[in-house]
Amino acid sequence: MSTSKQVVLTGITPSGTPHIGNYIGAIKPALELAKNPDYKARYFISDYHSLVKLWDADLRKQYTYEIAATWLALGLDPKQVVFYRQSDVPEIMELTWILTTMAAKGLLNRAHAYKAQVDANLEEGVDTDSGITMGLFNYPVLMAADILMFNTELVPVGKDQIQHVEIARDIAARFNHVYKTDLLTPPKALVDDKTQTIPGLDGRKMSKSYGNTIPIFAPEKKLRKLIMKIKTNSLLPEEPKVTKGCALFTLYQCFANEAELNEMKLRYQTGIGWGEVKQTLFEKINADLKAPRDKYNELMENHDKIESLLKHGAEQARMIALPLLNKVRKKIGI
Ligand code: TRP
Repeated sequence: MSTSKQVVLTGITPSGTPHIGNYIGAIKPALELAKNPDYKARYFISDYHSLVKLWDADLRKQYTYEIAATWLALGLDPKQVVFYRQSDVPEIMELTWILTTMAAKGLLNRAHAYKAQVDANLEEGVDTDSGITMGLFNYPVLMAADILMFNTELVPVGKDQIQHVEIARDIAARFNHVYKTDLLTPPKALVDDKTQTIPGLDGRKMSKSYGNTIPIFAPEKKLRKLIMKIKTNSLLPEEPKVTKGCALFTLYQCFANEAELNEMKLRYQTGIGWGEVKQTLFEKINADLKAPRDKYNELMENHDKIESLLKHGAEQARMIALPLLNKVRKKIGI
């Protein structure tokens, strides 16, 4: 039996307003893990990662506050979780350079985000390096530093981030091998198979890049309006409907309890109009998010409060990071 708690760590990049897909897919399961006494949670806002795709300083600040307020409004307890902003922990940057020297270029050549851009360039017939910064290329190394800086064992992430965690593992192993040590803990991705892809307004995966998101804390009226916009087919109310693959039903599944779900399933078979499904879904989501929304709005009016919580979290994070960084420095002869 292991006696020490496992470290779980995850980050969210401030490159957009947090949406329902982030809530169901990442924030909610991470908050549940944080409550589990078997784990020590460290959650952070990866603002240095956002530099890769967002070049607007004011927006970066805005999204940073939005993400911080979202975590807190949804129940993150700063006494239980070390909660910080990446840029407040300079040790991560120093570790990033050290790890860069251990990261095989060939490994990073295969990273999905970078490869996708290369493929897009090939398709367009432009230079393969077009629009690619070293920031995009090195993104996984910064992420490895985020993870390895805190002896992280488990990284709860979506499927698209598994490769990044594997890159972190690889870099840790190489460092440990080269410097004959076990200072860096190889992390594992923790992927929740139960959470399915959260559909957006157009039925595709809810994602900022598709412009099909529903913000978690959209004002009530806006929330209703967005839900009314979710794409459906043209079946009449009395016609039986299929729940599988139905965006409305999938979203309802994320919020409703079993009895409510069974009831809805039955209505799909026996007859229900899309308007009624949407109204029921709206009421369900709204009931779930009403109280946190008030808390969110209150926090967004009080940036100083958010700042002070993040600063406190950064102090705690640095108390963990600095001793490890000092050992790393010693190991590498610096
Ligand atoms: N790259 C992650 C994303 O876009 C965010 C992130 C940055 C992260 N550093 C991390 C996630 C470390 C987990 C661990 O979703």
